Amino acid sequence: MGKILGMIGPRAKKKAWRYLGLLLIGIANWAMILGCEKVSKPEIRNPGPLQIEVPAGAAVPEYHVPAEKWRVVHGRAINLRDFSEKECILCHNPQTGCQKCHRYVGGKEIKLAEALILWGSRERDGR
Ligand code: HEC
Ligand code: HEC
Repeated sequence: MGKILGMIGPRAKKKAWRYLGLLLIGIANWAMILGCEKVSKPEIRNPGPLQIEVPAGAAVPEYHVPAEKWRVVHGRAINLRDFSEKECILCHNPQTGCQKCHRYVGGKEIKLAEALILWGSRERDGR
């Protein structure tokens, strides 16, 4: 490197270093972008610390389909009393099924005495 740089003038040398600097910044940016993709999000089929667990074999209720819509409207449906949280916890453990997402989006905490009876105190703290 030094030998090659020695053969060119000071201006070209300055330019060469600048390109090298830009190259390194580019590599660092890519490392950051690629690194960021690994941050986990609450998702059903993506194993990770925030995976939303649904017990194997649980049927998907008709009102869940399509999931993209249900994800958005379920809060309103419960607030309007079309559904009750007590129904949800028959299939969902609040700690592993609701809270992982609610904590992520800053939603309200799902905490029902009935859930403790159904699902036990497992992961009561949600960890
Ligand atoms: C994939 C993410 C996700 C999952 C899983 C999830 N929720 Fe939600 N929930 C949300 C979002 C987003 C909102 C809207 C939050 C807001 O508007 O503040 C919400 C809102 C709600 C609300 C309305 C809260 C309010 O303050 O009006 C209720 C009730 C609720 N969810 C119940 C549940 C229950 C019960 C479960 C588990 C069976 C569950 N949610 C699972 C994302 C989720
Ligand atoms: C009969 C069982 C059952 C009941 C009752 C039930 N769920 Fe589910 N729920 C499931 C299953 C199974 C899935 C996974 C669906 C899939 O794999 O696409 C799911 C997925 C979800 C999701 C994630 C959707 C997504 O893809 O992000 C939310 C949110 C949710 N349920 C909320 C609720 C709420 C709120 C209630 C109560 C009103 C409820 N569920 C009642 C079985 C149930």
